[in-house]
Amino acid sequence: MVIPIHVYGDPVLRAKTDPVTQDTGALQHLIDDMLETMHGASGIGLAAPQIGSMERLFVMDLSLMQGEPATNGTDPSLMGPLVCINPEIVESGDVLEEFEEGCLSIPDIREMVVRPERITLQFLDRTFRTRFVDVGGLPARVMQHELDHLEGVLFTDRITPLKRRLLRRRLREMSRGNVEADYPLALARGAAGRL
Ligand code: NI
Repeated sequence: MVIPIHVYGDPVLRAKTDPVTQDTGALQHLIDDMLETMHGASGIGLAAPQIGSMERLFVMDLSLMQGEPATNGTDPSLMGPLVCINPEIVESGDVLEEFEEGCLSIPDIREMVVRPERITLQFLDRTFRTRFVDVGGLPARVMQHELDHLEGVLFTDRITPLKRRLLRRRLREMSRGNVEADYPLALARGAAGRL
């Protein structure tokens, strides 16, 4: 089922998630909903808080980005749908890279963000098998962005103070519910329709 995506300004995007402790039917159902919601919005990554869940997991799917230079050299098994439960960065490379990011919870805004180019991520897949992946380029970028969501951090927290100042008005309007997207949005309580 496609779930409406929570938008900038919604407190759910600022909360810290709880580690997943059990493989339940509800968890598998949540994973299916997250994949369907991400695909429905043509996104390449989605974290649980974005659909209002405090479970510590994200999904990603880079198949839409096939052929992009940032995916060169990526293990093909990481290009399709991927579920990362209780993810943790076990190692970050020293090389930093600037790359443009966007977010389904912050429609129509894209900014350059600096992050390590390479990481090693440990997580459980949806069968609860432990996996370690060593990645660079776009997968590393998406994983770090999604992991931030699980800590209540958004990419706009990581841009320069000047850029943030320039975006302040648009973000304020967004948190008041003045925002549109071509996928369903869950506007912060009281944001929509209050006159
Ligand atoms: Ni995001």
